[in-house]
Amino acid sequence: TKRVVSGIKPTGNLHLGNYLGAVKQWVVQQDDIQAEGGETLYFVADLHGLTEWISPAELRANTIEMTATLVAAGIDPDRSILFNQARVTAHSELGWLLNNVARVGWLNRMTQFKDKAGKNREGASVGLYDYPVLMAADVLLYNTTHVPVGEDQKQHLELARDIATKFNADYETDLFTLPEPLVSADAPRIMSLRDASAKMSKSNPSEQSVVKLIDSDEVIADKFRKAKTDPDLLPDTIEALAERPEARNLLTIFAALADRKPADVLRDYAGKGFGVFKPDLADLAVATLAPIRDEMVRLLDDRAAIDAILEQGAEKARALAAPMLRRTQETMGLML
Ligand code: TYM
Repeated sequence: TKRVVSGIKPTGNLHLGNYLGAVKQWVVQQDDIQAEGGETLYFVADLHGLTEWISPAELRANTIEMTATLVAAGIDPDRSILFNQARVTAHSELGWLLNNVARVGWLNRMTQFKDKAGKNREGASVGLYDYPVLMAADVLLYNTTHVPVGEDQKQHLELARDIATKFNADYETDLFTLPEPLVSADAPRIMSLRDASAKMSKSNPSEQSVVKLIDSDEVIADKFRKAKTDPDLLPDTIEALAERPEARNLLTIFAALADRKPADVLRDYAGKGFGVFKPDLADLAVATLAPIRDEMVRLLDDRAAIDAILEQGAEKARALAAPMLRRTQETMGLML
């Protein structure tokens, strides 16, 4: 049977990149995989949130807010196992075990570490460097078959597969299942609205470049109206957008929000300018995102209820994780 697992860091509010690249697929998987009798587990990766400085108060607030946003976006805690990573201590424990399987050379190739640490490599936390091993533990702990993520996480999943393969070979076992990334074909990467060479991310320098799920209707519309574009008209084929990354990004966002194929959306706008396209995109974005935001705000009225959701999810996750952790420990020769 299929088992889908994915996580998101509580380092800020959900933004359009996380939403279209990952969380929207989580909701689709919740329906599809469960219809086949499989399971979906989603978690707020609070342990991963520690890899770059965050104050305790902010981490707690973000964890609650991210959970509310996930529920508002359609993750149903009665159908999916929804929890925060720290509550299921097996993640940390398996992470340590896998540290001894992963190779330094493998981590040295991780591009996200290079991007995030930048020039200050010596000053980056060991956690930031080691983070992909904890991520491998997150996935391998549940015999995960599929991991819905954005394109930027594919390299980390390759590493999880390498770790699983080496563990299985070294200990002559088939304990770990090799997980497959599930990357949305139509929204693999959502780029910044100001610079289409950078992915949309909370660390983008300009506020205008990132649409957040908590933005007001006015702010969402304004960000799209002011998004960087070019003066040309929209063409009638996707191929003709190859050298126009900003235009391509807006089309990707439009299609993903509308659940349509980009080529199909382009047919409606071929020969028109961004003066027509952008207001329509702004309206579509507000119509899609506002109900999620409003529901999130409503849920946040009762923070204790959100925390209770996380605890119930953690209880279910612990029950799945415990036997797998134990088998791993025994396989490695640890006496328990
Ligand atoms: P994080 O928290 O940075 O992002 C959460 C998810 O959103 C996707 N994403 C994007 N997709 C398309 N375009 C973008 N601009 C964009 N920005 C973010 C990410 O690919 C991700 O799927 N390491 C993970 C969290 C994690 C995890 C895991 C994921 C921890 N353990 C185990 C899967 C399985 C991360 O930092 O994602």
